[in-house]
Amino acid sequence: MAVDLEKILRPVDTIVPPFEPKYMQLASGDFMVVRQASREEIPEILQYVEPLIHVERDFYDIVAVRVYAELLAYYRYRVQDEYVLVAQIDGELAAIVNGRFVNKEVGMSYHTLALRRGLRVGAHAFAAKMEYHMDIVGQKEVLIVAESPIGFRRWMIEYKLEKRFEIPHELGGCPSWSLTKDLFNNARETLIVGRRPVPKDMLEKAYAGILKPSDPPKPPPDLMAATRALNDPTGTANMQQRWQNKRRG
Ligand SMILES: CC(C)(COP(=O)(O)OP(=O)(O)OC[C@H]1O[C@@H](n2cnc3c(N)ncnc32)[C@H](O)[C@@H]1OP(=O)(O)O)[C@@H](O)C(=O)NCCC(=O)NCCS
Repeated sequence: MAVDLEKILRPVDTIVPPFEPKYMQLASGDFMVVRQASREEIPEILQYVEPLIHVERDFYDIVAVRVYAELLAYYRYRVQDEYVLVAQIDGELAAIVNGRFVNKEVGMSYHTLALRRGLRVGAHAFAAKMEYHMDIVGQKEVLIVAESPIGFRRWMIEYKLEKRFEIPHELGGCPSWSLTKDLFNNARETLIVGRRPVPKDMLEKAYAGILKPSDPPKPPPDLMAATRALNDPTGTANMQQRWQNKRRG
């Protein structure tokens, strides 16, 4: 009985071509590999997403908590047609991007999460996921939303996305924006960077394991100071400080 019910609960994914790994050189001189993560690797990734749930700065908290849920849903077969790509520098996790294929023509971009700042790793990982939808799977448009001002600058402004406000996005029902095939082609020479095939040693290192990010975003050490400085209307930092004090006590 339990087994039969699981058959109903578990969606059957549509077969799509896999993302072919690519690599690019960052402004720091480091090389970054972007590749597809398997379902079995999700628990490895989740342990690096969880701490970001407590980072309010730049909306890491809301994005991380949603990414956690999306990755868990993928791992436990509770979402249809999702994929996850990871960006790695020397094996270290640098960014996570994910999304979903709604139907043959339309893609739904979920999230982009950068675990190393200041190198456009998030921008490059996002470009790779757009490439997956457009060039590899052959879709006509991808629906996108932004949860942070940096995200808005990176996607809506840099790609000049079109409004599709009549379509509620799967992320909280917010009005959608669209990357069309034409907009993607316009960005090809500037925003979509990287090369294939990935050199063997680089690829082997990436597949050998997803290593802990060495410098991920962290919450401020003094949360009360952050509250005072930002005049935080939600009071979340205040609450977290009280919990921290209680735990210390
Ligand atoms: C949006 C995001 C993916 C962009 O990643 P990215 O392209 O690698 O860019 P960064 O976040 O490192 O840098 C963005 C800006 O932050 C600033 N920045 C750089 N280093 C920084 C640091 N160490 N700390 C804070 N800000 C920094 C820079 O001014 C940069 O400005 P620029 O746009 O002029 O380059 C990333 O900011 C992120 O994960 N944010 C939290 C989750 C989120 O909002 N995701 C998108 C959902 S729509």
